[in-house]
Amino acid sequence: MFIVMEGIDGAGKSTQARLLAEWFRGHGKEVVLTKEPTDTAFGKLIRRLVLTGGREGIIDGARISHEAEALLFAADRAEHVHKLIKPALKAGKVVISDRYFYSSLAYQWARGLDLEWLIDLNKFAIRPDLVILLDLPAKESMKRINGRSIKTEFDKIAELQKKVRENYLKLAEMFSEIRIVNALAPLEDIHNDIVALVEHELLRKG
Ligand code: TYD
Repeated sequence: MFIVMEGIDGAGKSTQARLLAEWFRGHGKEVVLTKEPTDTAFGKLIRRLVLTGGREGIIDGARISHEAEALLFAADRAEHVHKLIKPALKAGKVVISDRYFYSSLAYQWARGLDLEWLIDLNKFAIRPDLVILLDLPAKESMKRINGRSIKTEFDKIAELQKKVRENYLKLAEMFSEIRIVNALAPLEDIHNDIVALVEHELLRKG
């Protein structure tokens, strides 16, 4: 089974990915917990060229062109799919990824790139069984990531988060594997919601 966590910055993706991994392990499954951008050379390049170092997320869209940014995320993803995701699934393991190509659609679309082009660019990326969209109002996201970022960039990030959230909700109407979970709920409730969705998917797969 291949499961992806998506959502704007501060939605709690990595925490929920970890809790879900523990849940699967408790049921005797082997789990590969992974993320994008990855920790490979491509991921490091992205962190250097696109992200502003620490925990701020994508802010400065001026350093490289938006197309180059999208291509870097896609290159990182290609390596991720071929070297890690596909082999793990083939070995019968559960793969949980914190972000995947839906992040490229939501964020790089918010940069003003053409959605169809982004979808085409990411066609090599196999479709997961389930995508959990941790949905959060941009205002709440800003409260949570405040302190991670520099004050002067605040408005710029707030506007981007708002657009990205709207994009995610539009994508949820286009991709049937996306399920929306309310990320404002208490941690345990969110985890239970996710487990219910996973169990439903497991039953459906048989
Ligand atoms: P994030 O999950 O915050 O990684 P880390 O915690 O390691 O910094 O992701 C970094 C940022 O990259 C985040 O703001 C979303 C953005 N991003 C894209 O714009 N496109 C993509 O395809 C991916 C995977 C991430």
